Amino acid sequence: MIHIRTARRTDAAGVARVHAQTWKEAYRGLLDSAFLDNLSERRLATRWRAQLDRRAQDLDEEVLVAVNGQEIVGFASMGASREAFAPWEAEISMVYVLKEHRGIGIGRVLMKAAADHCIRRGLFSGGLWVLRDNGAGRDFYEALGGEPTGRKADSVGGQIVQLNGYWWRDLAQLAERSLPAITLGRY
Ligand SMILES: CC(C)(COP(=O)(O)OP(=O)(O)OC[C@H]1O[C@@H](n2cnc3c(N)ncnc32)[C@H](O)[C@@H]1OP(=O)(O)O)[C@@H](O)C(=O)NCCC(=O)NCCS
Repeated sequence: MIHIRTARRTDAAGVARVHAQTWKEAYRGLLDSAFLDNLSERRLATRWRAQLDRRAQDLDEEVLVAVNGQEIVGFASMGASREAFAPWEAEISMVYVLKEHRGIGIGRVLMKAAADHCIRRGLFSGGLWVLRDNGAGRDFYEALGGEPTGRKADSVGGQIVQLNGYWWRDLAQLAERSLPAITLGRY
């Protein structure tokens, strides 16, 4: 049974594991190989612990996890947009699901829960940036009704990459989409 809830500080290692594994696999060929090979779960866990601590002082920032038994199999992070020129109020900055758990609706439910969280904090539109060449990621956002918007270049792992923006003018549309049999906890 998959369950979605707010991440706890003790989830840092589990989130880092999903982060490292999904990046190494999904971004192979899209990002620099040396950068991906060097991604360490231990270092990422330190970063995630710091982010989960910081969240206590910044109520807009949130991390949600999808849990299967004791195992974190996916996560999403979101918060108020800090980009002056993006049209959206909230940014859903990361959504990742372990390969062996894809295609059963976890990504969709994480996006619904992210939308719920933003709306509760008074952020009614939301958007994100995805690697232009991440066709599967773009298909996922389009399947959820994301509307293509701007493009930009940014630096990831010391490499300049092209990003495409998607947004939901009304996050309620994302929040109201039907759910598969995944339980929602406190988030
Ligand atoms: C993208 C990702 C988060 C989707 O998670 P998921 O749990 O597999 O997605 P879901 O099962 O909830 O699918 C939701 C919808 O998106 C569609 N979808 C998901 N992955 C897709 C793909 N690769 N190609 C086309 N459509 C896709 C599904 O068909 C589904 O639509 P439907 O409900 O209308 O049938 C996951 O595949 C992942 O972590 N990928 C690697 C990293 C990545 O690209 N992250 C996002 C970019 S930042």
